[in-house]
Parts: sequence; structure tokens; C-alpha cells
Amino acid sequence: MKKMIRLGLAALWLASAWAQAQPSGNQAPDVGAGQKRAAVCFACHNADGISKIPGTPHLAGQERSYLENALRAYRDGQTRQNPTMNPMAKPLSDRDIVNIAAYYSSLARSGQGQK
Ligand code: HEC
Repeated sequence: MKKMIRLGLAALWLASAWAQAQPSGNQAPDVGAGQKRAAVCFACHNADGISKIPGTPHLAGQERSYLENALRAYRDGQTRQNPTMNPMAKPLSDRDIVNIAAYYSSLARSGQGQK
């Protein structure tokens, strides 16, 4: 019984350590709001995150933290410079970025059997 409690506490500790290590901290992402905010992105990346335009990457099923970092980097324009994506990312708030990343990350990568 004592062992169970200790195990439970360890799991709780791990869960909170993991939560703190996430890039978006305690902000729970809102996938629905992300989908709405991402409407301007659909022209190129599509609503399903699988782009039909050559040179435009698929976003569906990509790691959330990776998408957040990519969007911050485009917004800042220091480490990622691209004439299309820099102006697209400029007006996004931190919250928009968290939500949009959660939205695209939640989508299935077609044909890869993941998610
Ligand atoms: C006019 C077309 C267009 C629109 C609109 C657009 N993008 Fe992009 N996006 C691109 C292209 C082209 C690239 C590749 C740029 C590069 O080579 O760095 C890209 C790259 C990205 C990447 C990096 C992907 C990776 O694997 O590193 C992310 C994330 C992204 N776009 C998100 C968005 C979001 C979110 C929006 C809406 C706010 C948006 N894009 C709107 C064309 C577009």
C-alpha cells in the first residue's frame, strides 16, 4: 500500500515536471480557436494541413512544440527568414501561435499511419 502511494506521488511529480517542460507552460491550447485563427493559412497549407502547393510544407501531425518554435522564429524574423511566412506570422499573438500549433498538430498525417 505504501509502495502504491509512493508510486502515485512519483507519477504526479513526473506529470508536473513534464507539464512545466512544455514550451507553452500552463496555457492549455484551444484547438477550435486555432482552427479559426488558421483560416488565413488554409490557402497554402490547407485546412487538413496537407499542402497541395509545391514548396509549401505539410503541417498535419507535426510536433506542437516544433510548430510553435517555427512560428515564433518567423514572427521574430531573426533565425527564420522567408518572404511569405514572415508577414504571415507577424500579426500572431503568443496565444494564436499556441492554438494554431495545437490545431495542426492534432491533424492526421495522411498515409503514414500515425495519429
Ligand atoms: C501564401 C502561402 C502561405 C500562407 C498563406 C501561409 N504559409 Fe506557412 N509556409 C508557406 C511556405 C512557402 C513555407 C516554407 C517557407 C520556408 O521555406 O521557410 C511555409 C512554412 C510554414 C511553417 C514551417 C513548417 C516547417 O516544417 O518548418 C509553418 C509552421 C507555417 N508555414 C505555418 C503557417 C501558418 C500558421 C500560417 C497562417 C497564419 C501560414 N503558414 C500561412 C506558405 C504559406
